[in-house]
Amino acid sequence: MITDIQQEIIKLKKEKDICILAHCYQNPEILEVADFVGDSFALSVEASKVSNKTVIMCGVRFMAETVKILSPDKTVYLANPSAGCPMAEMMDKETIAQVKEKYPDYTVVAYINTTSELKTICDVCVTSSSALKICKKLDSDNILFIPDCNLGDWISKQLPEKNFKLLNGGCPTHAKMSVKDVQNAKAQHPGAKFLVHPECKPDVVALADYVGSTTGIMSFAKESDAKEFIIGTENSIVTHLQLECPDKSFYPLSKDCICHNMKATTLVDVLNCCKGTFGEEIVLDEEIYVGAKRCIDEMIRLG
Ligand code: 13P
Ligand code: SF4
Repeated sequence: MITDIQQEIIKLKKEKDICILAHCYQNPEILEVADFVGDSFALSVEASKVSNKTVIMCGVRFMAETVKILSPDKTVYLANPSAGCPMAEMMDKETIAQVKEKYPDYTVVAYINTTSELKTICDVCVTSSSALKICKKLDSDNILFIPDCNLGDWISKQLPEKNFKLLNGGCPTHAKMSVKDVQNAKAQHPGAKFLVHPECKPDVVALADYVGSTTGIMSFAKESDAKEFIIGTENSIVTHLQLECPDKSFYPLSKDCICHNMKATTLVDVLNCCKGTFGEEIVLDEEIYVGAKRCIDEMIRLG
């Protein structure tokens, strides 16, 4: 029974003083054993406040790295070492170093969904919630925004006074959604508000009633007087919203909007990580730790 595995995890958590973090895209049976559920940066902040010496991140690699950077004295594990984010890993340090040489007077803004190694050569990090505020606050009017060109496009349209350089990167899960998906969903639910994540393509984002981060979408849906919503982000958010707002109705923009990288972590992985037979301890070189921390600290200072 799934509950037997969950009970074993809960027992081991207590015995071994472990805190379990689960990104809100994780499978439900993992969410049930987590101490905190949320978006990646919020989880890192929560982990930095707990007294537990060991933290297990159920999410993708860059998220576990962010946890380690904010809690360097804790032992941090990624529950499934193969869980990576294709967007975070699509641009390497050497490529971006070359782009920087071409645009020396540009401030490099990195989405938090990047490797720690890449963060070391960027000026500041942003989350999807803080990107607009931070880009606006920067002294520089020239911004090289990496890696997500869709998020970068959405920010740039709101800051026409700044010059943005975007590269061809992004989230394959969100980029899959099309205008056709929006037309189909709106035809099926004509009264529904359409809420979308800015990792989606600009032509999809242009059709939305609200554009925002996971947290933004959830707050908008909870506070809105509307009763029906089409959700243009990872489909776990449809379930979270339906649980939190039982009187409202939520529909996925597309049945395909599932992040298989996030779903790679299983409950058994979490159990084995608690036992110490699976998972990977996140160890960052001093140079990477210092460089990536500077980029994240700048985000905290500006955000
Ligand atoms: P946010 O939760 O920061 O909006 O990001 C969505 C996402 O794609 C996480 O990997
Ligand atoms: Fe990466 Fe996209 Fe999955 Fe988020 S949803 S972890 S950005 S691939």
